[in-house]
Amino acid sequence: MIRPAEVDDGPAIAGLEQLAFGSDAWSDGLVADGLSGQIPGALYLVATSQTVLGYAAASLFADVSELQRIAVAPEARRCGVGSRLLARVEHEARVRYSEQLLLEVREDNAGACAFYAVRGFTEIDRRPRYYADGTTAVVLRKELD
Ligand SMILES: CC(C)(COP(=O)(O)OP(=O)(O)OC[C@H]1O[C@@H](n2cnc3c(N)ncnc32)[C@H](O)[C@@H]1OP(=O)(O)O)[C@@H](O)C(=O)NCCC(=O)NCCS
Repeated sequence: MIRPAEVDDGPAIAGLEQLAFGSDAWSDGLVADGLSGQIPGALYLVATSQTVLGYAAASLFADVSELQRIAVAPEARRCGVGSRLLARVEHEARVRYSEQLLLEVREDNAGACAFYAVRGFTEIDRRPRYYADGTTAVVLRKELD
């Protein structure tokens, strides 16, 4: 099931952040802020069965929205959870009259790059030394019809 995240989902989301992003992970406090409902345009979704299997965080605005995070627990990957989260983000962006969805991905993240390519994202830019360890960010865009 995909549903809007609640404040109580914070620890599970922060745990997945650590697993998926390590030293680039958002802090517990940043996750809690995002779930507070106080940030304009912020959307947090979780995929659940008995536990939280994955989550997505996005900033949704008219014209252009941004997918900031998407991660699935390692043991639940390649089962369609990420695709369902992303499809729901795209739906919520369309509802808010977004015409495109942007995101950044590390150029060495082959799995995520393949995932986004399958979902119709194309490269529009590169940002050298974007990440703390010097890795380049690839900027991807999907047109939302
Ligand atoms: C990227 C991520 C969210 C994908 O979630 P997922 O639930 O595994 O994705 P899905 O099962 O919906 O995958 C759909 C398709 O995307 C492609 N894909 C997904 N992961 C892939 C991988 N590691 N390698 C190659 N292709 C991949 C495949 O075509 C896949 O279909 P298939 O399994 O039938 O071959 C997940 O791998 C993840 O959490 N990665 C760590 C966090 C991360 O890098 N997030 C993105 C940061 S920008």
